[in-house]
Amino acid sequence: MYDLLLSIHNLVRWFFLAAALYAIFKAVMGVSGGSTYTKSDKTAGALLVAAAHTMLLLGIILWFVSPNVQAALSNMGASMKDKAVRFILIEHPLTMIIAVALIQIGRIRSKKAYADLDKHKRSLIFYALGLVLVLSRIPWNVPLIRF
Ligand code: HEM
Repeated sequence: MYDLLLSIHNLVRWFFLAAALYAIFKAVMGVSGGSTYTKSDKTAGALLVAAAHTMLLLGIILWFVSPNVQAALSNMGASMKDKAVRFILIEHPLTMIIAVALIQIGRIRSKKAYADLDKHKRSLIFYALGLVLVLSRIPWNVPLIRF
């Protein structure tokens, strides 16, 4: 169960990163060109939110089943002093939850905006902030893909 979830969590991050770059690219184009907010912009945002929520769900389950997290929880005092353990126990999950929330807020605020330029602007700001947070706390010292 743990191995499978870890592999999927590892794999889906690529979809998440691709979706984030795509949605941000579309928003940049929209803002710089002052273009209409089209169905494809809407789809880009929806894909990003779907990928973010998938990562959130996988991550939460992973947190509860990971032997690394469980071992860390059994000795919190020592865990908090260990940078690597603290990262996987708290820093990574918390930052990612905030990032997913920002992306979700961006999508809602973009939907609520009246002018197309505002839709693009709100998407750009919130998706970019979310991506920056994710990039700041993603573990890069892991296999690119896990089987
Ligand atoms: C966009 C959001 C996220 C991305 C891009 C992401 C990315 C990753 C990556 C690349 C790994 C390493 C996988 C491996 O070792 O092969 C990982 C591990 C992990 N993630 Fe996430 N993650 C995200 C969200 C979350 C969330 C929201 C949680 C929990 C609430 C979470 C909990 C974990 C845990 C517990 C592990 C490590 C488990 C272990 O080493 O035993 N992740 N994540």
